[in-house]
Amino acid sequence: MDTMDWSNLSFGYMKTDYNVRCYYRDGKWGELEVSSSEQINIHMAATCLHYGQEAFEGLKVFRGKDGKARVFRVDENAKRLQSSCDGILMAPLPTEIFIEAVEKVVKLNERFIPPYESGASLYVRPLLIGMGAQVGVKPAKEYLFVVFVTPVGPYFKEGFKPTPMVILRSYDRAAPLGTGIYKVGGNYAASLVAGEKAHEMGYSAVLYLDAKEKKYIDECGPANFFAIKNNTYITPKSSSILPSITNKSLMALAESMGMKVERRQIPEEELSTFEEAGACGTAAVISPILRIDDLEEDKSYVFSKDGKPGPVCEKLYHKLRAIQYGDEPDTFGWVRIIE
Ligand code: PLP
Ligand code: COI
Repeated sequence: MDTMDWSNLSFGYMKTDYNVRCYYRDGKWGELEVSSSEQINIHMAATCLHYGQEAFEGLKVFRGKDGKARVFRVDENAKRLQSSCDGILMAPLPTEIFIEAVEKVVKLNERFIPPYESGASLYVRPLLIGMGAQVGVKPAKEYLFVVFVTPVGPYFKEGFKPTPMVILRSYDRAAPLGTGIYKVGGNYAASLVAGEKAHEMGYSAVLYLDAKEKKYIDECGPANFFAIKNNTYITPKSSSILPSITNKSLMALAESMGMKVERRQIPEEELSTFEEAGACGTAAVISPILRIDDLEEDKSYVFSKDGKPGPVCEKLYHKLRAIQYGDEPDTFGWVRIIE
């Protein structure tokens, strides 16, 4: 591990030592199992393969200056996974098992937690899938919960630097009353074509508008949207976006810094009035937005003239990271030390 170039990690998969698994059979969740295999043995008629019974989570573990490993808001991820399970009729996993599994897999892969100085972190990826065989469109009777980890650097390769994003009006990610509020694989499948198109054109992500009216800002491909003006933190209220735990945390931080917080519909035209804009999420942390182009409407909204993050993005970013790495006291009770 001494040879690892921790500071130059990208956001990708790296094999680690162990993963942790739990099976749901005969109407109940079993004991946690430790595995060193990267493979899952799966029935060819499993519902996750045919009918998209799959939900996942993403959270991070940070090593502090004191060497301790800290996991951020793990209880919130446990709750969101339960909500995703309810949303696509999978057996929900109790919070205690979720937290125990995360702690266990982190401890077993302790040597993969990047050092404090690197600015990298250990990404934890829980997933829950329908394992039982069905041919008719029905929920499975058996499920598998797996958690693996992988050390990661920034999601957008630029790191904490503004990047351009694009509105592509001929694509939607999620329907207003569909599954956008759940973290299920199908939403990401639905975003692949637009995402690749955006990347080919040099954009870091797609910014989706609401699918019904094509009028309001929804969210970015892998992250929520927020903007700043008049000492106010503004973020979309929508029935088709994922309730981001990072966004929820930033709202609390903004308030604690004396800012106003508004969660409401954001019409696209309002983009021209914002002083700063950003994408936020576990993987994205805060990714400031340089510019948003609405190609079909031939409009462009610029948020950074000098290519640098704005002062509020900067402040929020450092505050959040300081809490996550344990540099500042955890006054909100967001951090759990794994010993
Ligand atoms: N929106 C989408 C579509 C995401 O995939 C994610 C990532 O988890 C987020 C928002 C950010 O959510 P969180 O801050 O909980 O990671
Ligand atoms: C995360 O931020 O954890 C995500 O899941 C985003 C993306 C990698 C899907």
